[in-house]
Amino acid sequence: MARPGLFVTFEGMDGSGKTTQLARLAGRLRQAGREVLETAEPGGTRIGQQIRDILLDERNRDLAPRAELLLYFACRAQNVEEWILPALARGAVVLSDRFTDSTMVYQGYGRGLGAAAVETLHEIACQGLQPDLTLFLDIDLDTSLARARRRNAEAARRDRMDEQAAEFYRRVRDAYLDLARRHPGRVRIIRGGQPEDAVAADIWEVVRAHV
Ligand code: TYD
Repeated sequence: MARPGLFVTFEGMDGSGKTTQLARLAGRLRQAGREVLETAEPGGTRIGQQIRDILLDERNRDLAPRAELLLYFACRAQNVEEWILPALARGAVVLSDRFTDSTMVYQGYGRGLGAAAVETLHEIACQGLQPDLTLFLDIDLDTSLARARRRNAEAARRDRMDEQAAEFYRRVRDAYLDLARRHPGRVRIIRGGQPEDAVAADIWEVVRAHV
């Protein structure tokens, strides 16, 4: 789809440092004079935040996997319509902390709902929108689990996602690596285990070719 803006998504396991790196990249792009829209999934828009509350509420352990799948896409449909497409049409760079690849790996593969269902829902929810570039911040499983646990202890909270077993995370990481193999032009693997500045430098190296 021809459009003036640039759509970049950040993907990775829980605790991979995406959120920090997204903020750093946003700052760098703004310094370079670009308009930047930062968004996150689940979340983003006001309605998206309400959907996020349902998804991450630990009382909702009985949320059916298919209901969960549809809620992620409901959130995304709102985000695409209300924020992302208008920003891209204005020529902005849109940075999204997670997008459909998360649903593919967590629900499609992690929960076994299948790739076909995710692709079909993506077509409906996202109006044909695909990221121009996806940065997959790869960290090993132990680091991901340890960082997620530490973060939860600091925040004195446990959400539904972080209670998932190590086996689930293994499936998720394998699915991300598989996506990167199948879409080598769009999905770029960034070594997330390095010091923060080194990760930021690797990200800039990839992004600068697009801006
Ligand atoms: P969040 O608190 O945003 O975690 P993180 O900072 O690691 O991204 O919670 C997002 C959680 O939701 C995370 O565990 C991944 C999960 N998720 C899905 O399972 N499917 C999806 O489509 C999306 C967007 C997120």
